[in-house]
Amino acid sequence: MKIKTAEFVVSNSKVDQCPNSSLPEYAFIGRSNVGKSSLINMLTGRKALAKTSAKPGKTQLINHFLINNNWHLVDLPGYGYAQVSKSTKKVFQKFITAYFEKRKQMICAFVLIDSRHKPQPIDMEFMQWLGENNIPFCIIFTKADKLKDKVLDKNIENYKAEMLESWVEMPEYFITSATSKLGQDEILDYIDQINEQLKNK
Ligand code: GTP
Ligand code: MG
Repeated sequence: MKIKTAEFVVSNSKVDQCPNSSLPEYAFIGRSNVGKSSLINMLTGRKALAKTSAKPGKTQLINHFLINNNWHLVDLPGYGYAQVSKSTKKVFQKFITAYFEKRKQMICAFVLIDSRHKPQPIDMEFMQWLGENNIPFCIIFTKADKLKDKVLDKNIENYKAEMLESWVEMPEYFITSATSKLGQDEILDYIDQINEQLKNK
């Protein structure tokens, strides 16, 4: 899929105020600082569509972007960021889960995982929660450019092995780098395929 247009639509903290639209929607979620906003900019080929920051906790709202006048891409706040106060953290969790529970046009959640790290309980728990709630998701491993190929391969294999302890099969996954654009075509084609299937339904 070629990105012809990518426009910011709206930011808000309430699911009920998200765009009143039946367009298919794809959400990007993961721990704070995992690279969600950078990935969105890489996928869309826009430098500053989503705001990025070296400091965790930058994205604190549900941000809708309209792509090719045809589908929504959603940048969600990171979960599990220890520096925000407990009460703020609760609000994050609540509106993140509310988003997934209520947003019927949400077709697939992309769960971002930093390819440098061992499987983290919070990501495992979040994917478990998605599974229990029948919310379709894929995994996106980020920041692949920060690792040597061999280490990257090893980390992915290790992640798969850990996933297979609680899942029957490894979910669809993508390996990405916001700097080298690795994974861009694969993810955009994946979304395009689903959009086409939905159109023909
Ligand atoms: P929050 O909005 O705070 O939850 O963070 P986020 O997940 O949106 O992360 P963001 O895209 O802001 O990136 C966090 C930091 O990681 C920034 O300093 C980015 O430049 C860096 N980063 C993100 N993706 C990559 C990547 O693929 N490669 C490299 N080398 N750095 C990356
Ligand atoms: Mg962000």
